[in-house]
Amino acid sequence: MPQKQPIHTLKPDIHSVGAIDWDRRMFDALIPLPDGTSYNAYLIRTAEKTVLLDTVDPAKTDILLDHLAELQVDALDYVVSHHAEQDHSGSLPAVLKRFPGAKVVTNEKCRTLLLSHLDLSEQDIITRADGESLDLGSKTLQFLSIPWVHWPETLGTYLVEDRILFPCDLFGSHLATTELLAGRQPAVLEAAKRYYAEIMMPFRGHIKKHLAKLDAYPIDMIAPSHGPVYDDPSFIMDAYRRWSDDAVKNKVVVLYVTMHDSTERMVRHLADALAQRNLTVQQFDLSQADLGEIAMALVEAATVVIGSPTVLAGAHPAAAHAAFLINALRPKTRFACLVGSYGWGGKMVEQITGMLGNLKVQWLEPVLAKGTPGAEDLAGLDRLADAIRAKHQETVGIVS
Ligand code: FEO
Repeated sequence: MPQKQPIHTLKPDIHSVGAIDWDRRMFDALIPLPDGTSYNAYLIRTAEKTVLLDTVDPAKTDILLDHLAELQVDALDYVVSHHAEQDHSGSLPAVLKRFPGAKVVTNEKCRTLLLSHLDLSEQDIITRADGESLDLGSKTLQFLSIPWVHWPETLGTYLVEDRILFPCDLFGSHLATTELLAGRQPAVLEAAKRYYAEIMMPFRGHIKKHLAKLDAYPIDMIAPSHGPVYDDPSFIMDAYRRWSDDAVKNKVVVLYVTMHDSTERMVRHLADALAQRNLTVQQFDLSQADLGEIAMALVEAATVVIGSPTVLAGAHPAAAHAAFLINALRPKTRFACLVGSYGWGGKMVEQITGMLGNLKVQWLEPVLAKGTPGAEDLAGLDRLADAIRAKHQETVGIVS
């Protein structure tokens, strides 16, 4: 028996019928989900048509089908698929089996991906291009192309008469909750920031364009495919404008791994020197840090520092792993530098700088200590702190 979960009503004829996943702790074997998640699906009914927007992860199909049964849905005319990824489209085959007359409505690119990922046939799917509509009688669903949030095919829909935006992954949060509405809750904003950092940040350029496109639409409510519904859209849209614009904050993120304490001593000295210069520091030990926390710290940081010892003639694998992820996440960070210790040589600097090619950063002079850091190494870290402060002063202009 699937767990009984709430059906929420956004408007008398619009319901949230998806599933909460309280226990999921990892997405894509990569992204930590400390607060679980939800797979949101929405049912829209008019006198003429019944439409389901998205489905749920296949593991939660029973909950979705039970919700549709509870609402006495005998037939579906359409199932809109905003995104081919399994957490939203994975239950499509089961939904079509239950409602054989339903047509999947999506865009051309998503159609291709659905056919290559799921057991669907071409006759099951009809397409709509950007700006085209689906006539539901008393309501109109307009299709919006919003690619790369988070796959290249992603689309959103806008329910014209009710002024509700369904943007799929965009604006979502991985937050398991029985509450329908986000309001202006700090906990929702925190979850949305983690989600932005982990999933949306690599697509910052696309997001800026999508925000500009959405300016043309009066929006009363945003109903994403993960997490609560935004009844005050400015709450999340303003946050997305801040996170995705080019402005950085006076913050230095220090990520380090240490083997025999030399690198850690250097990092501690540098962090203290930065703090003494009125720079905000967030420091993470890579041997135990949470990827999501690191990603969140990078959203608006002006500078990232990576600390690594040299091992087997190169960077410590934990530092290389962090560099690989930062490169994939593409934060708007402006400055980067390396600190660390070495025994007799190696290619740590070349390796790490080579791994961060996606970042548009200015590299500052690295500080490397041979063995235990001595007085000259610590003085080098003080000079690095001076250089970072000067760069922040020039760029951010808010260091007092
Ligand atoms: Fe929530 Fe990209 O799937």
